[in-house]
Amino acid sequence: MTKSLFLLPGDGIGPEAMAEVRKIIAHMNSAMDAGFVTDEGLVGGCAYDAHGAAISEADMAKAKAADAVLFGAVGGPKWDEVPYDVRPEAGLLRLRKDLELFANLRPAICYPALASASSLKPELVEGLDILIVRELTGGVYFGEPKTITDLGNGQKRAIDTQVYDTYEIERISAVAFELARTRSNRVCSMEKRNVMKSGVLWNQVVTETHKRTYSDVKLEHMLADAGGMQLVRAPKQFDVIVTDNLFGDMLSDVAAMLTGSLGMLPSASLGAPDAMTGKRKALYEPVHGSAPDIAGQGVANPIAMIASFAMCLRYSFNMVAEADRLEKAIANVLEAGIRTGDIMAEGCRQVGTAEMGDAILREFASLSA
Ligand code: NAD
Ligand code: IPM
Ligand code: MN
Repeated sequence: MTKSLFLLPGDGIGPEAMAEVRKIIAHMNSAMDAGFVTDEGLVGGCAYDAHGAAISEADMAKAKAADAVLFGAVGGPKWDEVPYDVRPEAGLLRLRKDLELFANLRPAICYPALASASSLKPELVEGLDILIVRELTGGVYFGEPKTITDLGNGQKRAIDTQVYDTYEIERISAVAFELARTRSNRVCSMEKRNVMKSGVLWNQVVTETHKRTYSDVKLEHMLADAGGMQLVRAPKQFDVIVTDNLFGDMLSDVAAMLTGSLGMLPSASLGAPDAMTGKRKALYEPVHGSAPDIAGQGVANPIAMIASFAMCLRYSFNMVAEADRLEKAIANVLEAGIRTGDIMAEGCRQVGTAEMGDAILREFASLSA
């Protein structure tokens, strides 16, 4: 059976990291007869330069038709002045919205070899394994109105609107509870019910969903600001965190640094299973951005992108053994002291993007042999 992958490398370090995943796909096709069929498109600033839009209609159609989308990163100073609607980030937001990828899974795992690369004390992060489940198609990212109005008195007014309906909170909390059952069976829901109406509803709906279907899972509620504090105070207290689009964006960058670098954190963005086929639309992307400060130098850490592909193997193709092996290959390479600059430590060997990708591929191939 062929497995279609649509690759959107994007801008900055996106293409550099994607090149390393392309090598793994080619290896899996030739050595394991994996049957991946790939196609590629443009997203972000490069799509704007080519078509005047952050993603073309043709590429949107290909993304919708593919079994899975692999996404690099978008954005950069070159496009700072382009109109808001066609800015690079709009391409990613449109993919999420139009493919209805409401569930964003952002695991933050601290590989043992990297405990000292974290900005926190090693004992606080050693063995860390948390999963942030971020709502991805609602909230203040998409709520209307979203405007800047000239008030005519030399003042302007900017409005973003936080909106959540019951069904949106129900379905994301169900994803979090289901995933918790496969882990340590604990969910912490984060919102700001003390200030925001959407926080009040979020809290109610998560509580009801828990009571109705998932009472075997341990549920805790935390105000999102306190949650951020707890994430850096004692991160290992968490198993699954479920939260809204904006809080999830910020908390996952915080969680990334616990693991040593933003260059380590993968993510999966999943839709609802199709009623007929059970298949989910899915997009896999590193949590980091296009890193304009290091783009073009061949020094970016490709692990977040490679680990995103491991999530793709697991969630889109049920290739669990291969996903486990790819993650093990990453751990082994780190254990062997091979490091990109962002996670470099004393006594380790510093390598560039391609060398890191090659080392992981070699290890993956030998684990698979
Ligand atoms: P960023 O994630 O691009 O970079 C933040 C810092 O982390 C930089 O110092 C960068 O060098 C470092 N970093 C990130 N990924 C790394 C990697 N793989 N290896 C080594 N170091 C890495 O965030 P930013 O600078 O705030 O944003 C830059 C641009 O990227 C903006 O245009 C932003 O909108 C965009 N962005 C895109 C995505 C995405 O495409 N999913 C995500 C976040 C930000
Ligand atoms: C992320 C990014 C995106 C977001 C941007 C690039 C639209 O920061 O995926 O974390 O804010 O969701
Ligand atoms: Mn972000």
